[in-house]
This record gives sequence, C-alpha cells and structure tokens, in this order.
Amino acid sequence: MAIALISLIFIALVTVYFYLTKNFNYWQKRKIPCPNGALPGVGHFWSLITMKVSFGERIRQIYNDNRNHSMVGIYNFRSPALIVLEPDLVKTVLQTKFTSFHENGFKIEADLDPLLANNPFFNYGEKWITGRKRLTYAFSSMRLRILLESVKQVCEQFENFLDRKLSKVGKIELQLKDLFARFTAQVVSGAGFGVDGLSFDEEKETESFYTMGKSFLEPTGVNNFVFLLVFFIPALNKIFRSPFLPKRADRFFRTIISEVMEQRRTEEKPRNDFLQLMADLERVEGNKIDMNVLTSHAVSFFIDGYETSSATLSFIGFNLATFPDVQTKLRKEVISVLNKHDGVITYEALKEMTYMDQVICESQRFFPLVGFLNKICTEETELRGSDGLTCHIQPGTQILIPVHGLQEDSRYWERPEIFDPDRFGPDKKNNIDRFTFLPFGEGPRMCVGMRMALLQMKACLATLLKKYSLEVSPKTRLPLKMVPSTFLTAPEGGLWVYIRPIE
Ligand code: HEM
Repeated sequence: MAIALISLIFIALVTVYFYLTKNFNYWQKRKIPCPNGALPGVGHFWSLITMKVSFGERIRQIYNDNRNHSMVGIYNFRSPALIVLEPDLVKTVLQTKFTSFHENGFKIEADLDPLLANNPFFNYGEKWITGRKRLTYAFSSMRLRILLESVKQVCEQFENFLDRKLSKVGKIELQLKDLFARFTAQVVSGAGFGVDGLSFDEEKETESFYTMGKSFLEPTGVNNFVFLLVFFIPALNKIFRSPFLPKRADRFFRTIISEVMEQRRTEEKPRNDFLQLMADLERVEGNKIDMNVLTSHAVSFFIDGYETSSATLSFIGFNLATFPDVQTKLRKEVISVLNKHDGVITYEALKEMTYMDQVICESQRFFPLVGFLNKICTEETELRGSDGLTCHIQPGTQILIPVHGLQEDSRYWERPEIFDPDRFGPDKKNNIDRFTFLPFGEGPRMCVGMRMALLQMKACLATLLKKYSLEVSPKTRLPLKMVPSTFLTAPEGGLWVYIRPIE
C-alpha cells in the first residue's frame, strides 16, 4: 500500500515537472543562446515571484549579461520569449516588420475591464486602428493648442496651491510624486472631462481625481499584486478574475461621465475638452452616443495620461534637485522665454524651451519609466542578427525590447552613468540612434499621447521653475532603489524635496 502511494506521488511529481519544463529546450533546438537558471514553472522570473526585482529590472539584468549577442531566448514562466538586443533588430520588430509584430503583449479581459476595452494599448486590428486614429486627431497641433488652455488653468491652480503652502513657512518638504500627481490628475479632469478634479483642494481631497488615481495606480503592495496577476500571470488571473480597474473606480468614472454628458445636453456653451471631442467624433461617424464607449475613452485618457506623466515629472524634478546647475540653466531659459511672451505660457513659448526638452529626454534616458516593451509575433517571420544568429519566429511568440539596457549601454552612450542633458543638445542629438532611446516606444505603435505628455510636463515645469527652487531632502533614500514588482519604475520611499521661492 505504502509503496503504491509513494509510486503514485513520484509519478505525479515527475508529470508535474515535465509539464512545468515542457518547453525548456525550445531555444536550444533553435540554437539561440539562453541564460542558465530557468526554474520549473517560473523560467527566468523567480526573482519576480519573490518580489526581489521588477520585470523591467530582470530584463535589464539579462541584457547586461548578454550584450555580446544580438538576441537571447528566455522562459517567461513556461513560455519561450525572445529578447532582441541590437538596435537594428529593435527597429525590425517595432518598425520594418511591424505587420509581423503589431500586437502588444499586455492584454486585458474585456468582460472584467469593459472600460479599458477601447484603449488602443490593449487592442489590435480594426479596433486598434480606430482608437489610435481618434487619439492622433485629439493630439494634433491644432487640438493641443486648445487643450493647452485647460492646462494653463491647471498651472494657475498649481501656483496658488504652492503659494498657499508656502505663505506661512519659508520652505516646504514634499514628495514629488504627490505634487505632480495632483497636477496631472487636474489636467486629466479639466482637459479630459471638462470638470474640476478637486486635486488641489485639500479639504475635498477624498472626492478628487487625484485620490481616485492614487487608489489604483500607485505602486502599493495590493496594486502591485493586481498588476502582476493581470499583466504578467494572466493564466493565474483566470482563477482570481481580478480586474485592473477596481469596481469603485469604474463607478466613479461612469457617474462623472453620465453627469457631465447630461449637463451638456441642456447647455449651449461650446466645449473644447477631450470628452466633447470623442462625443463629436462618434456623432460624425454616425454612431449613437454610447455611454460605455464614451466613458472608456475618458478612462483611457485618465489611465494613459495621469500616472505616466506624473511619474516622469517626479524623476525630472529629482534630477533638477540633484543637479542645481542644470536647474539654474533651465530656470534661466524659462524666465527668458516667458519674458518674450509677456509671462504667458503659450504653445510657441513651450516650443522655444529647447533646453527643457533636453532635460526631459536625459531624465527619461536615465530613469526609463517603462523599462521594456512587449510585443507578440502575429505572422511567421525571421530575425537575423549581425552576429550570424537567425531565428524563425512563430506566431504567438513574445518579443521583449530591453529599453533600460539599451539606454545605458556604453556602446551607444558616452559615459551613460552621468546625467548630462547636453547629450541631447542640437549638435549631438542627431547622432543618437532612435532605437537606443525609447521612452515613448517607436514605430506605428509609438505612444500616441507623447505630444500631450510633453505639453503638460513642460507647462508644469515652467510654472514651477519660474518661481520656486528644488532641493533634495534627506527623506529621499539614496542611492535610489526601485520598487520591485511594479510595471512603471518607482523609487522606494519616494522622491522627497524642499521647495522654496527663488530669491
Ligand atoms: C511621460 C508620459 C508618457 C510616457 C513615458 C508614455 C510611454 C508610452 C510607451 C512606452 C508606450 C508603448 C509604446 C510601444 O509599445 O511601442 C505608450 C503607448 C501609449 N500611450 Fe503613452 N506615455 C506617456 C503619456 C501618455 C499620454 C498623456 C497619453 C494619452 C492621454 C498616452 C497614451 C498612450 C496610448 C493610447 C498608447 C498605446 C498606443 C498604441 O498601442 O497604439 N500616453 N506610451
């Protein structure tokens, strides 16, 4: 009896082992280098499960250990995935052979997350084309000039908020993410939905867009677990069935959009926000305004625009606080450009702030918010590396682009460990290989909100620097260590600074 039981357990264990490692000779068979250390069931991602490093950080480690190859095969849990390491191959995947790699690797379940179902990031085929066309139209130069009017109002509220805080004390200590998340939440509510998001009103903070965004987008333990399930272990989420957008956020957005649209039916006032634009486009296309579709456009604007831009701004703010010379130089540019434009933040004024562009680029290179891109092969094709490696890629294979690794590789960047905005100066920027600098991705799926992101970030930085200075506070844990298990890069303990008025 005991022997039979032991034999059964043994057979069961061997079966499970074979199941968990079934694919683990995939790269060997194709003669593609594969790092050692793949473990049954988790492949090369044990450190992700134990929350030691984030997915992006793990891809960065693999990049740095395998720089001599053009490509390297890994096991993402049980599935084979290919990391392309050469800029030329990155170009092939993102641009030249886009038709073979047009799907993003992140998926959501439409029934669990109906309000994310129209977001181009999660779509492909016709649905992607339609969603992308709409956003491209919304962020054309002409529309951006109009959206800037709402952003300017937010800049005023931002300045008043800081003045109120500084009125009784000489300096304040705050966490940059906290400050900038109020700004971007207020932009999204104003430019996106045409309402006051209450994000600078500390008395009504609990009802604000800022609090709502924070509740499900901030990298807390619970949110990280949800990200992990939804985006990295979707097979396990078939059991947990956790949506990315929590029920309370779903209710919050549905209520606001239905109230706003109801109000608009009865008023004559013309509106210039993103929500109105999407409603008009639906009408022009002959569709009846469907509240679900409209709400999902609004939610996309919120999710894509709020966290990405505020986190990027925080890293820029931290770099300015760390490098006072850069801060002074940028302030000089802001003040001199604004003086030429009667102190008003116009579209042209922002365009003239070119050193600011350099600071933003260098900050995005130094602290990539999205450490990797994730694509799926949709059509059988072949990739050839300059080292002679050739790989036939089957539909369904995951392709990972190591953004962080490429952006700190000394073969493409002189002294990459130094923060130096001058590397993006007019005399040097043309020498940069586009496919080694990917903060917004590249090719037909490149971030469609990039111009909106830059517009709001530049307006925010100009407002801040013209009047206030930043200094790193000892509350910032140095050297920075990034939170493991997040999708977007986030520093442990936050980035704390002192803000004071400039003399
Ligand atoms: C600094 C802020 C931002 C950063 C760093 C950022 C970064 C990115 C990146 C890396 C991608 C993936 C590109 C690829 O797969 O090749 C992306 C896609 C996207 N972003 Fe952004 N983004 C930012 C702001 C925004 C804003 C403000 C919006 C809109 C309101 C937006 C909307 C989108 C959309 C819709 C996609 C999917 C595009 C597609 O698949 O066709 N992003 N973004």
